[in-house]
Amino acid sequence: MSCTNFLLEAVGTSSMRFVVTIDGPAGSGKSTIARRLAGQLGWRLLDTGAMYRAVTVAALRAEIDLEDEKALGELAARTTVRLLDDRVLLDGEDVTTLIRSVDVTRATKYIAGSPRVRTQLVEWQRLASEDNHLVTEGRDQGTVVFPEAFCKFYLTASLEERARRRHEEFTTKGQIGSIEIVRKDLSDRDDGDASRTIAPMKPADDAILIDTTDMDLDQVLTRIESEVRARLQCHNSPS
Ligand code: C5P
Repeated sequence: MSCTNFLLEAVGTSSMRFVVTIDGPAGSGKSTIARRLAGQLGWRLLDTGAMYRAVTVAALRAEIDLEDEKALGELAARTTVRLLDDRVLLDGEDVTTLIRSVDVTRATKYIAGSPRVRTQLVEWQRLASEDNHLVTEGRDQGTVVFPEAFCKFYLTASLEERARRRHEEFTTKGQIGSIEIVRKDLSDRDDGDASRTIAPMKPADDAILIDTTDMDLDQVLTRIESEVRARLQCHNSPS
């Protein structure tokens, strides 16, 4: 691969922290891929969806009006979310399982649509990149949070396949539910995430699009990791 100038400009100096962004809809495989890629590279993983989910738990518990923008902003400002290796802490409490519940998932749209919450969470996300090379996943990482990221991916898959994957995941965890409901929840969430005015879910202009419908996780990881390593190689020995 030849090393292009845009890349050399994008990565800047050697002290700069590298950021790989992986955006896309739920069920596209981005969480698993981001985790595995971060492990392979030895970089920090940032699951930004977990942040939105944890703030949603805080809002539901505080029983605030989920459409009260001021109250949501104040809540986010006084809330602490910590992402550890495999756990999520909300004000010190382990909410790893709770944030994945159906009720929390459905309510995230209010939190994700709040400009004040987003401003707060974007600040946390950028802070995470200051001392670490980062693999970050979400909806707006390549477009809004890290527009200068040196490598951006956008994963998609058909709604049918994503519903199948999610349903299988739930079944493995012993959660009973119909695939139709899973499909409808995914579709509603996609619509909300893609159509909201602030930071809508969409690929960055310079993102690499990967349709994972007919790919297994190993194939996706291989594709992404080889691209990242090729770009890192360019950075280390430009020619
Ligand atoms: O990725 P995950 O499914 O855990 O995200 C939960 C919700 O959080 C998404 O449906 C979306 O509304 C919101 N989100 C977001 N921006 C991100 C990550 C997640 O709006 N960067």
